[in-house]
Amino acid sequence: MLVCLTTQSLKDALLDVRKSHSIGFVPTMGALHEGHLSLIKEAQQANDIAVVSIFVNPTQFDNKEDLKKYPRTLERDTKLLEQVNCDFVFAPSANDIYENNIHSTKFTFGGLEHAMEGKFREGHFDGVGTIVKRLFEIVEPTNAYFGEKDFQQLQIIKKLVTTYNIPIKIVGCKIHREKDGLAMSSRNARLSTKHREVAPFIYKTLREAKLKFEKQSALKVDQWVHEQFRQHPYLELEYFEIANAQTLKTISRKRKGNKYRGFIAAFAGKIRLIDNIALN
Ligand code: PAF
Repeated sequence: MLVCLTTQSLKDALLDVRKSHSIGFVPTMGALHEGHLSLIKEAQQANDIAVVSIFVNPTQFDNKEDLKKYPRTLERDTKLLEQVNCDFVFAPSANDIYENNIHSTKFTFGGLEHAMEGKFREGHFDGVGTIVKRLFEIVEPTNAYFGEKDFQQLQIIKKLVTTYNIPIKIVGCKIHREKDGLAMSSRNARLSTKHREVAPFIYKTLREAKLKFEKQSALKVDQWVHEQFRQHPYLELEYFEIANAQTLKTISRKRKGNKYRGFIAAFAGKIRLIDNIALN
């Protein structure tokens, strides 16, 4: 496994490789967990080589404290990647990847950027769009893998490649969960014992919402979810949305033939957790 700490060294290393090998790419911000490893496995199964990037991207954080506290575990991560036979790790510094100009470009993603995370995390998707586009230009993978936990991000990246005619196939991968249902996330490591204990309530509520959605109106389900969180002593709901899975527009009533998903963002103390579920 080769660890490249600069853009130039990765480009040099991939120059010949890409001539005769397909490249599967998994962009991450490190603090790797089973969810990341499952993306890497998919990349390895469908490509000749796997490249994983580890970069905590400053421009996608709307909260300075969250950026400061984001877990950085490069040594542990590289060991883990070595164990799973990853081929290349790309772990650049911010100045290197941003060429000493750390700021994000303004993007429009056909309105996808205004919903949910876009509403509550100002500039987040400009930061994601900027770094993912840059990573794609450097790695030039055949396929790139993203988890459905960040479902809105996945849709936005699909839009990014079509808008800019980037010849990369975007592969969405199922959410990986802990045994108790909590969606795997690097942020879970920062939960207090009490908050870790209660956090599976998020997925439990989504599952129950899905059952209710079969028989009840979107409005009723929405009210029910809000009520569950109002009564919860440790979790604070930021949003629950029932949205069209393609457009991510919130719906107030179901229409035949459309696919819907339920999306939650909630605070467990200071830690913000997100999760989502297909409702039909
Ligand atoms: O999902 C993430 O970990 C990040 O948003 C990504 C795609 C690596 C961009 O920084």
